[in-house]
Amino acid sequence: MICPWSVAAAAVALLLLSPGENQMVRVSAQPTKTRCAAGVVDTCGDVGVPYPFGIDGGSCSFLPGFNLTCDRTKQPHRLFLGDGSHLQVTEISLANYTVRVLNGVGTVNFTFAGHNDSTAKWAGVGVGQDDGPYIVSEEHNQLVVTGCNIMASLLGNSGSNVIIGCSSFCSITDWWGADPIVHSGAGGACSGLGCCDVNITIGRPSYDLQLRWLDWDHNYDDLLPIAVRIAERGWFDGMSTKLLRKNSRSAVPVPVVLEWAVASVHKPPTPVDVNSTCPKDPARSECRSSNSFCRNIANMYRSGYVCKCDDGYQGNPYLTGGCQDIDECSLPGKCFGECTNTPGNYSCRCPRGARGNPYTKDGCIKFPLVLDRGG
Ligand SMILES: *[C@@H]1O[C@H](CO)[C@@H](O)[C@H](O)[C@H]1NC(C)=O
Ligand SMILES: *[C@@H]1O[C@H](CO)[C@@H](O)[C@H](O)[C@H]1NC(C)=O
Ligand SMILES: *[C@@H]1O[C@H](CO)[C@@H](O)[C@H](O)[C@H]1NC(C)=O
Ligand SMILES: *[C@@H]1O[C@H](CO)[C@@H](O)[C@H](O)[C@H]1NC(C)=O
Ligand SMILES: *[C@@H]1O[C@H](CO)[C@@H](O)[C@H](O)[C@H]1NC(C)=O
Ligand SMILES: *[C@@H]1O[C@H](CO)[C@@H](O)[C@H](O)[C@H]1NC(C)=O
Ligand SMILES: *[C@@H]1O[C@H](CO)[C@@H](O)[C@H](O)[C@H]1NC(C)=O
Repeated sequence: MICPWSVAAAAVALLLLSPGENQMVRVSAQPTKTRCAAGVVDTCGDVGVPYPFGIDGGSCSFLPGFNLTCDRTKQPHRLFLGDGSHLQVTEISLANYTVRVLNGVGTVNFTFAGHNDSTAKWAGVGVGQDDGPYIVSEEHNQLVVTGCNIMASLLGNSGSNVIIGCSSFCSITDWWGADPIVHSGAGGACSGLGCCDVNITIGRPSYDLQLRWLDWDHNYDDLLPIAVRIAERGWFDGMSTKLLRKNSRSAVPVPVVLEWAVASVHKPPTPVDVNSTCPKDPARSECRSSNSFCRNIANMYRSGYVCKCDDGYQGNPYLTGGCQDIDECSLPGKCFGECTNTPGNYSCRCPRGARGNPYTKDGCIKFPLVLDRGG
């Protein structure tokens, strides 16, 4: 296993230790921040901020659009997207190119537009850029609606392009005095009564929303808080018994998973070939580590790229020497025989004098035993 970054780190250390060099650096390079070496990250609270992310005012640099803000006025410190939006960052994943955020506002804020309709905006990633790195992940989020006899639709920003929507009903008897039927399904999942949810089919940085009352008399508006949320899939199931109540608080923080990409541009989808947004010239690619590769990222809204470590490697592909060999032999359950780690892989054999399956517990059987059985 070779660690090229340790060489780089040694060079940096030398530079720092040599007083002459240090002065030269101070004179020539003013506060220009550099990419921190692999393994060095700024943190905010308990969230690590690996490159291409960086904290504005932190010690490591960041790619354009990947700046975060650390609010150190409260304990514990809290990390926010961009210049300090309403989205609090709780987790950054390089391998999954996602960030998990907590939307402090939670529900969208509707303004009435006539008797039966209302519109709103999911201000979303709050950084207000079509070409920013982030979109709402299609894979991880849902539109979740609570309320009686309403239909909510998610729109793109041009107003008339409906993306997806769902309707929530409360079954009301002819005897209006009785409570309507509102309950969630098995495991807290939405049953269509009092709530509805649907997968978000186009990930965007923001959305317009439309709400339409199916009961024009608005008889049951007070029975359940009307709330429209974009939430991480599964979140509502755990919250439904709390939220499907007459006086439940609507302003609960909601987790949302955003997907990010480098060099993200808002453009109509094309038949994208695998590498179309990966820089042709490797010198211009943000994938700086050896044992890393570039992957094109595209959806209906935008395209860009991300970097990944090769199989058998892990770490930060955006930094020189960031992808490190995984020592599979030190991982439990990988090998029950004689294990040898190799760059990017490992080999696993039964010990000399035994054969069988070294990948399962007690899978290797000693030779004489096999012979005994045979004879
Ligand atoms: C941080 O990001 C925002 C957009 O999210 C941008 O307007 C601002 O200029 C960025 N700040 C820095 C220091 O890059
Ligand atoms: C990355 O994705 C995998 C597979 O979906 C998941 O098991 C893992 O928890 C994710 N990691 C992070 C940090 O989000
Ligand atoms: C909702 O919007 C109204 C009108 O624009 C505004 O007065 C109110 O403060 C907003 N509420 C929230 C919680 O943002
Ligand atoms: C929503 O998406 C998830 C993950 O892609 C999938 O497993 C699930 O079946 C989808 N649900 C519906 C109703 O399509
Ligand atoms: C809106 O509600 C009124 C009842 O107040 C009803 O007469 C009207 O037809 C509704 N309009 C639409 C467009 O649904
Ligand atoms: C995509 O890029 C990777 C790494 O640069 C390269 O190995 C691969 O051959 C490319 N694939 C195509 C279809 O060009
Ligand atoms: C690791 O080695 C095994 C067995 O030689 C091989 O099948 C597998 O493709 C290798 N994996 C990688 C990532 O090279």
